[in-house]
Amino acid sequence: MLTLGIETSCDETGLALVRDGQILAQVMASQVGVHALFGGVVPEIASREHYRLLAPLYDRLMAEAGATMADVDVVAVARGPGLLGCLLAGVSFAKGLVLGSRARLVGVNHLHAHMLAPGLEQGLVFPAMGLLVSGGHTHLYRLDSPHEITTLGRTLDDAAGEAFDKAAKMLNLPYPGGKYVDILSRGAESDPDLFPVPYVKNDNLDFSFSGLKTAFATFVEAHPDLRFTTMPETGDLDQGGQDLANREELARVLASLSHSVVRALRVKMERALDQVLDRADGIRALVVAGGVAANSLLRLEMERLAEERGLALLMPSLALCTDNGPMIAHAGELLARAGLFHDLDLDVVPRGGVVPRDYIEQRD
Ligand code: KG4
Ligand code: ZN
Repeated sequence: MLTLGIETSCDETGLALVRDGQILAQVMASQVGVHALFGGVVPEIASREHYRLLAPLYDRLMAEAGATMADVDVVAVARGPGLLGCLLAGVSFAKGLVLGSRARLVGVNHLHAHMLAPGLEQGLVFPAMGLLVSGGHTHLYRLDSPHEITTLGRTLDDAAGEAFDKAAKMLNLPYPGGKYVDILSRGAESDPDLFPVPYVKNDNLDFSFSGLKTAFATFVEAHPDLRFTTMPETGDLDQGGQDLANREELARVLASLSHSVVRALRVKMERALDQVLDRADGIRALVVAGGVAANSLLRLEMERLAEERGLALLMPSLALCTDNGPMIAHAGELLARAGLFHDLDLDVVPRGGVVPRDYIEQRD
């Protein structure tokens, strides 16, 4: 089965061809540079960029793989949640390809695709507990199969990635700043008392990061010398007019911020394992994915948690943590194998919306 995957839910245009869980070819255009100066993704610009890039990227992908649409069995497209105009660009393109070929269409839940991404590198293990941590979402899941994924908890306000991005913005770092928080804090000792571990003194499995954002903002306000005076060029953190003493203090402060975010994630995961997913449930693995799963402290902490609980740990490599075409193709392939498709009525689901289970079942 040859599956073409299309990802356009935010600011990454990603296309890939996957056959039986193996990536045959992939192409990707990131708009990070386009939006960096605005301090966030500008939806109208993002959708126009997807619209402009889809056809040339598709041509490049097919040329690289030496394939044509006649070879493609399934077109899998991210149908939400995401930015509405961006999703429409990808879904319309996918429908056009399906109309002009024999391929079948399947709409993929972008969040579930993140959870299934480790399957491109190692075998998936079910049942599993999943943590999705990205720029727009923080979700805790129970995964029983590629298409039986239940939400156990979610963020009530900001996502974990958003907490990092907003903190970075307060320091005058480029968007998205999660990566810079990670780089700048590497090797530093965290002060666990500097910031609160947000929203853990309750008995639920939801997250909230807005209180931590406020605590961080108050701290930066009181220590304005931590800010970069001019926004450093993406990738070059050596400019910005800070002296070395501040850089060390900044590292400690950012390590402490990461500590609070990671601690909050871990507390809720342990709670889920203890209360909801006890041994009788037979949870065998921990899946951690999404852009924030690139964070070094989170990776370390998840390794510890999995080891302590005797669970397998499925964490994609960095390129498969952030938005990408292969994860959509892979999730689509798994759905198609289960006989789950869509027709041309497939609709998109905006950010914050719930992706319906509206597949058309068809087995050969
Ligand atoms: O999954 P993703 O690529 O896009 C969304 O669907 O949101 O996640 C992007 C998020 C951004 O908030 C970015 O700052 C964050 O992932 N991120 C990181 C790191 N690398 C990317 N956050 C913390 N540490 C990192 N190393
Ligand atoms: Zn994503």
